Amino acid sequence: MAELQKGLEGVIAAETKISSIIDSQLTYSGYDIDDLAENAQFEEIMFLLWNYRLPTQEELEELKEKLKQYMTLNPRVYKHFEEYATDDVHPMTALRTSVSYIAHFDPDAEEETDESRKNRAIRIQAKIASLVTAFSRVREGKEPVKPNSDLSYAANFLYMLKGELPSDTEVEAFNKALILHADHELNASAFTARCAVSSLSDMYSGIVAAIGSLKGPLHGGANEQVMKMLSEVKSLDEVDNYLDKKLANKEKIMGFGHRVYKEGDPRAKYLKEMSRKITSETGHNELYEISLAIEKRMHDEKGLIPNVDFFSATVYHSMEIPHDIFTPIFAVSRTAGWTAHILEQYRDNRIIRPRAKYVGETNRKYVAVEER
Ligand code: ACO
Repeated sequence: MAELQKGLEGVIAAETKISSIIDSQLTYSGYDIDDLAENAQFEEIMFLLWNYRLPTQEELEELKEKLKQYMTLNPRVYKHFEEYATDDVHPMTALRTSVSYIAHFDPDAEEETDESRKNRAIRIQAKIASLVTAFSRVREGKEPVKPNSDLSYAANFLYMLKGELPSDTEVEAFNKALILHADHELNASAFTARCAVSSLSDMYSGIVAAIGSLKGPLHGGANEQVMKMLSEVKSLDEVDNYLDKKLANKEKIMGFGHRVYKEGDPRAKYLKEMSRKITSETGHNELYEISLAIEKRMHDEKGLIPNVDFFSATVYHSMEIPHDIFTPIFAVSRTAGWTAHILEQYRDNRIIRPRAKYVGETNRKYVAVEER
């Protein structure tokens, strides 16, 4: 049997044309992330990840139309939210439930062709934005906001979340954040999605499984934890004290480290610049200064670099987005990647079934319960 690789580190477990990380450079289907982050719309990225090519003008318009059409939720979903949209249900827990629930209203749920699956990817991508925003509003006792057909995907998300039209700067920053989080090769949640559908289970099951994986603080859940840390640090003078204690206890500092990137995460520089700009525009400069001090200490002492989650926290906080909605936003963006991985897995499927090295007891004999 092959040697055990804890955490599957370095193991090649799939072939993909969706994205690659080579020498700390991230590309989506051959396009450099820098090029895409600077120039593209998130809708083009969805198409790229699903089809391995950018859309024509006509294809892009058609996709945007479908997204807007599918953003409307069945009224029963809002009713469903009333049962569990409370402060003690984490929005990622709610999202896991609600994505599973909307499968009930998909009229083609059992149709399994590449075309119907691609359409299902559009449907889920559209509805996940509505689910996250409607949950957040219902929880606050507000009416859900219906999508606005004049707005892009990024703008519609912010509009449905807050109930007011976002500024151009907010839309530009949010569109970029969605692009930067859309896919990341064989990350834990994409692999989870691929495992789930490798039994030929349906796309909703794959997305529900992926949401569960993303929720953890070692993956997407880190962005909410970064904000918790920044609020605990409170002021620039407290950074060293705070980190001394955490590091002495061998605790992980959220938003740092990466399995693949050791030199630098190519996405982090954009979020850092966005954070600098937006914290200064919204009077949250100290949060940015604290972030820089943490970054410096982690680099100097541990040789660790900020990952995509570190500066995204202050960006979303400055946009007045509730902290527990940060990870659901990651899910909204990563749905493009998850659905792409699911489509790719179906196209060349073999059930994912590795082996485990047994390290438990051996040669035991059953003893009747009354004799134990
Ligand atoms: N804070 C302190 N020490 C750390 C951190 C951190 N954030 N990350 C890694 N280290 C240390 C570990 O303690 C370990 O030290 P040791 O060798 O002395 O025991 C060493 O660096 C290697 O760390 P591992 O946890 O083995 O690295 P792995 O590749 O398994 O994990 C991970 C990567 C999960 C990202 C890890 O760095 C971590 O837990 N980071 C904090 C959580 C986080 O930010 N997650 C978001 C990841 S990016 C994303 O999913 C979007």
